[in-house]
Amino acid sequence: MQSPLDRRSGLHAAIIMDGNGRWARARGLPRGAGHRAGVKAIQQVAEAAPALGIGTLTLYAFSSDNWRRPAEEVGGLMRLLRAYLRGETERLARSGTRLTVIGRRDRLPAGIPEAIARAEAATEAGDRLNLRIAVDYSSRDAILAAAARLGPEGLSRDAMSEALCGPGDVDLLIRTGGEKRLSDFLLWEAAYAELHFTERMWPDFEAADLAAAVADFAARDRRFGGLNPPLLTAAA
Ligand code: IPE
Ligand code: IPE
Ligand code: MG
Repeated sequence: MQSPLDRRSGLHAAIIMDGNGRWARARGLPRGAGHRAGVKAIQQVAEAAPALGIGTLTLYAFSSDNWRRPAEEVGGLMRLLRAYLRGETERLARSGTRLTVIGRRDRLPAGIPEAIARAEAATEAGDRLNLRIAVDYSSRDAILAAAARLGPEGLSRDAMSEALCGPGDVDLLIRTGGEKRLSDFLLWEAAYAELHFTERMWPDFEAADLAAAVADFAARDRRFGGLNPPLLTAAA
């Protein structure tokens, strides 16, 4: 089914949810406790996003490079994903949130691809917020796979944007946890994204922080290579 949100409405905000492990360490807790606390932050931002003018929210939950972590931590993250899908789908559907998961599915533990498909089907009519969660996601791999599908004759900027299955360019890209890097997230889509880095660790990130990031974004002068206002071009 086509959702009205397939055509872009509202801002596309994306968040690299980083800092769970350091949040836990600062409290003398195991890293898994940080990941569990991070799920609450996801619930908060998803609820707050539509009122802030965000139509699409893409969250980086697990990168393809995160498989390098100890099996115990990876297992814990996968269990959390399963619990999130099981526990949240109904609430998401009720709140008009359409959930989609981006990234590879063929390496996920048994049962998770099916749980993702169920959650996507149950929420596909959502027209208030397009919530995308990136799992086993690598932007470089996504670009390579899209290029292979398109073939040399089919390559163009528009075709690539479409083939990346997204709602298009990211307007605002937030990274929590203090690091200032993209870690292979939405490299194509973020070509002109406004970047917002915050020291806040992800489990501490709340609706007010999202509102502050959107206010920061609203004050930016986006020129896309041109001049602002455009009439300056004629005057020069
Ligand atoms: C982000 O928090 C969650 C994932 C990458 C899965 P981290 O686990 O990277 O937390 P830090 O960066 O070690 O604090
Ligand atoms: C990026 O965080 C991936 C996610 C937030 C899911 P990482 O913690 O894995 O990134 P690096 O290793 O600091 O670049
Ligand atoms: Mg990290």
